[in-house]
Amino acid sequence: MTYAAITGWGMYVPQQVLTNADLERMVDTSDEWIVTRTGIRERRIVGPDESTVSMAVAAARQALARAELAPEAIDLLIVATTTPDQLIPSSACLVQTALGATRAAPMDLNAACSGFVYALATAAQFIRTGAARAALVIGSDTLSRFVNYRDRNTCILFGDGAGAVVVQPSATPGGVLSIDLGGIPGTGDLLEVPAGGCRLPASPETVAAGQHYITMQGREVFKLAVRAMGDSCAKVIDAAGLSPEDVTLLIPHQANLRIIEATAKRLELPMERVFVNIDRYGNTSAGTIPIAICEAEAAGRLRDGDYLVLTAFGGGLTWGSAVVRWGR
Ligand code: UT7
Repeated sequence: MTYAAITGWGMYVPQQVLTNADLERMVDTSDEWIVTRTGIRERRIVGPDESTVSMAVAAARQALARAELAPEAIDLLIVATTTPDQLIPSSACLVQTALGATRAAPMDLNAACSGFVYALATAAQFIRTGAARAALVIGSDTLSRFVNYRDRNTCILFGDGAGAVVVQPSATPGGVLSIDLGGIPGTGDLLEVPAGGCRLPASPETVAAGQHYITMQGREVFKLAVRAMGDSCAKVIDAAGLSPEDVTLLIPHQANLRIIEATAKRLELPMERVFVNIDRYGNTSAGTIPIAICEAEAAGRLRDGDYLVLTAFGGGLTWGSAVVRWGR
């Protein structure tokens, strides 16, 4: 039996900080409203020379170093992103070039904020079946380039960042133990970027109407997120043959502290067993979970044998969860 173990991890967030006080000067909002409704205090924003690909490359280099793996050893390279540098080539192809991952099959995967869990699930299948020997899984998003900084409903929520993991085969029972992925049909308009695709190509009119910005019906997304993540976590915990008491750490997508708390409550997990860094980064979309994995590890909160539950929810609407047993 071959298991799909996480053997390396890395992250990158831009230097530039956007605080709630900065946002108070841009839209009709307040630090108090943002903190009590979302838990966010600041987020990171890319500089002019940074992008989804540059952040992905920085995170990937760290992950490869941690796994003690040369870029040439990677045979599958997935970038989960909704905000690619360009439509063609894919961000994964650009990351391949920057890393010199000459043997890798590069592909992008778009499942919005759930993207990292989808990409990890995909890589785990390749590793378990022997179709790949080393997979690089990256979640990287630059939502600041798609946010309307005049729309207080969305601009307070998002930040930029990237995280990466290396997945390799292991004979030791562990790694990605169970997966649950899904989507909610008919909910696409609750969270969307209407223009810029082939249905509504970019034109002076779409730009003037602000249709290349992200729009969201937050209250509806909130309710669906709590239900979907709670149900999905329960499913993966059960599928891994565990019960919630066995979960060492819940690493949820960081979209809203109240969503995280409600999800933990549904699982009857105390907040001491939930990882939260939303206060410093906001919602970095596909970046949240791999960034949180890195910070949890650096804080000494991941030990070999620990059972982690990853869970995410986002545009589509989509959800994805996984149980991971930490260690090689
Ligand atoms: O990555 C996954 C996808 N995204 C999410 O999971 C996000 C899910 N949704 C949310 O996190 C929350 O719904 C928000 C944080 C977006 C909004 O919080 P809420 O408690 O659901 O507020 P609301 O949308 O119901 O708005 C309450 C009030 C409204 O005013 P009225 O109509 O009651 O007078 C809004 O206009 O708060 C107002 N409001 C604001 N006030 C100050 C909305 N945004 C702001 C703001 N500052 N930034």
